Amino acid sequence: MKSSGMNNEQTVIWKLGKLSSTRNNDQELTESLSEAANLLAQGELVAFPTETVYGLGADARNTEAVAGIFSAKGRPSDNPLIVHIADRAVLSEFVAEVLEADEKLMDAFWPGPLTLVLPVKPGVLSPKVTAGLDTVAVRMPDHPIALALIAESACPLAAPSANRSGRPSPTTAEHVYADLNGRIHGIVDGGAAGVGVESTVVRTNASGEATVLRPGGISIGELSQVLGASVREVSADHGKDINPAQAVNVEDTVETLSATDEQQFLKSTAEDTLQKAVNFAEEAPRSPGMKYTHYAPSGMLEVCVGDEQEVKPEIQKRLSAARVRGEKTGLLVFDEHLKSYATSADVILSLGSKHDLREAASRLYAALRRFDDEQTTYMLAEGCSEDGIGAAIMNRMSKAAGGKVYHV
Ligand code: TXA
Ligand code: MG
Repeated sequence: MKSSGMNNEQTVIWKLGKLSSTRNNDQELTESLSEAANLLAQGELVAFPTETVYGLGADARNTEAVAGIFSAKGRPSDNPLIVHIADRAVLSEFVAEVLEADEKLMDAFWPGPLTLVLPVKPGVLSPKVTAGLDTVAVRMPDHPIALALIAESACPLAAPSANRSGRPSPTTAEHVYADLNGRIHGIVDGGAAGVGVESTVVRTNASGEATVLRPGGISIGELSQVLGASVREVSADHGKDINPAQAVNVEDTVETLSATDEQQFLKSTAEDTLQKAVNFAEEAPRSPGMKYTHYAPSGMLEVCVGDEQEVKPEIQKRLSAARVRGEKTGLLVFDEHLKSYATSADVILSLGSKHDLREAASRLYAALRRFDDEQTTYMLAEGCSEDGIGAAIMNRMSKAAGGKVYHV
């Protein structure tokens, strides 16, 4: 099977389930992993689980294989990929310099959901991986299957999330299959991914400061604790500068401002602060992927966040209005509030307890996919605090909602 382009062949699934120490000698497991690893080494596309979401892997040095990722996903070619490694020793093959702050972060968080943007050594990786930038994003995933595949294939693996572009990232092998069957060689099924939102993307500087280019599995608080220096977040800073009803992510905001009347209105009221935010964004190192609206559900999604007593009536009001309009409605709320909304929407899904935002992160993408499956036309999600992993949850919700986040 050719890795690039469409074909009608079925995608192979290696069903491994969760790896555990007692399964290390399992023959079927070993054979599946080496089959998948060999295919990767030959330039094929194989999806695999990581601790964040499923990734679509290809040898990062092989341009034809990397081109296959972009075509299988339908991904814009100016959006660079993360390179996954299993051993820090290989960094020197394709990274020009590792700063002290990067070392500290690697010591603290690798393997784990942290991606570091580092200066790239020219001539080793496919230029398609970096989309022509002079930096490369690298991470070491904290998942035994991912680590085994990388080690056994002996390839640095370029691996974006294994979804079709514009769909929520996959947290199970079934999600990958639904999006990419017939477009990739195989999927290693290792059960559900853990964290549920993608890694935090960080760029450090020689002064030991860090900029978070994409919030994710490692929080700003955790980064600051290790660096003991300034950690700024591109997207959250923007959000604070803008009218609170605006998007969390300014680059999405800029893109979608002219899209609807409502946002046109916000544009006129928030022009000054928006300009400040844009200036800030232009100064800051960029994560090119942040400018894309990553997931636009086929229906309309809105997010309500704020004090419980005020959020409830707001949600009820918006849902009743949607029902009057004849919409098929979806609601995504925390367990504690499920009862009070009992019959207010056609499809009601839970993010788990509001006291466990890690659980909420792990459920978010599956819930958004479920709404698409149920063909809901109007969805409302209850937002959460931006503490810890909450920042990543709100970032992804806001993107999915095209910035329609209401602070009530
Ligand atoms: O958790 C994750 O990071 C998952 C799993 C599969 O590892 N991967 C993932 O990859 O989310 P992807 O391609 O969907 O997102 C990569 C992000 C994009 O926002 C991209 O713009 C940014 O990383 N990125 C990649 N290379 C970059 C670079 N050189 N400079 C700045 N941002 C970069
Ligand atoms: Mg992605």
